[in-house]
Amino acid sequence: MSGVAIVTGGTRGIGLAIARALIRDGHTVCAIYHGNEDAARKFETETGGKTFKVDVSNYADCARGVKDISDALGDIAVLVNNAGITRDAVLHKMDPDAWHAVIETNLTSCFNMSRAVIGGMRDRGYGRIVSISSINGQKGQFGQTNYSAAKAGMIGFTKALALESAAKGVTVNAVCPGYIATDMTSAMRQEVLDSIIKQIPVARMGHPEEIADVVAFLASDRAGFITGATLSANGGQYMA
Ligand code: CAA
Repeated sequence: MSGVAIVTGGTRGIGLAIARALIRDGHTVCAIYHGNEDAARKFETETGGKTFKVDVSNYADCARGVKDISDALGDIAVLVNNAGITRDAVLHKMDPDAWHAVIETNLTSCFNMSRAVIGGMRDRGYGRIVSISSINGQKGQFGQTNYSAAKAGMIGFTKALALESAAKGVTVNAVCPGYIATDMTSAMRQEVLDSIIKQIPVARMGHPEEIADVVAFLASDRAGFITGATLSANGGQYMA
């Protein structure tokens, strides 16, 4: 069922590729962004999709944003919780701001956004929620206690909400990308990134489109029997 699809963090990186794939599949796509106005304008010009500015870490702003989107575009059929940040540091050097920023932007955002759309999806008997977790939520990663905790939390959140939603026609799944070529990974120190690429059996980083196609499938009618799943796309780096 095509309808309005919201992609948080949808104007750049993996989110942009997901937005493009959902547009290709016939959805009316709304990309949520937070700070980067240039990327938002570029997204609208290049894809024909819409953008809305919402702070996904803020409960009231998510409620307001989802209402604005459905008033402007229609009922929400698909939510992709993709927005995420890193504030990498070893725990003995991590300040509380780095902990809270990552937990609130990456994990609390899933509550905020899902809470805003779930009532409508249940009432209509249809919905698709896909959350972008990470290989580092599955296996843990040196320097990422905050990020690994948030991404692991998304997996538990997905399973619990899938149980609550299954009888109402709403599926809830998590996708765990490995290391994908985006601004987030290009911000890493080159020698650290090189050492990680050596651990990837396919011997390369992933492309955003290789995650987007997984999400587009989970967001489609064809995936109605898949719920509560954690789907890895990591080049064989970690087999959960
Ligand atoms: N395992 C064991 N030891 C390690 C290690 C590892 N994976 N990585 C580093 N160490 C060791 C180092 O060898 C070093 O030891 P010595 O002091 O004995 O030389 C010590 O730990 C300190 O390491 P750093 O010099 O790297 O410490 P730092 O404080 O300068 O940097 C860091 C810390 C910024 C977290 C850095 O280690 C780093 O960038 N790590 C990678 C984090 C990462 O993978 N981020 C992913 C971002 S992309 C993403 O998150 C997307 C996704 O979903 C995949």
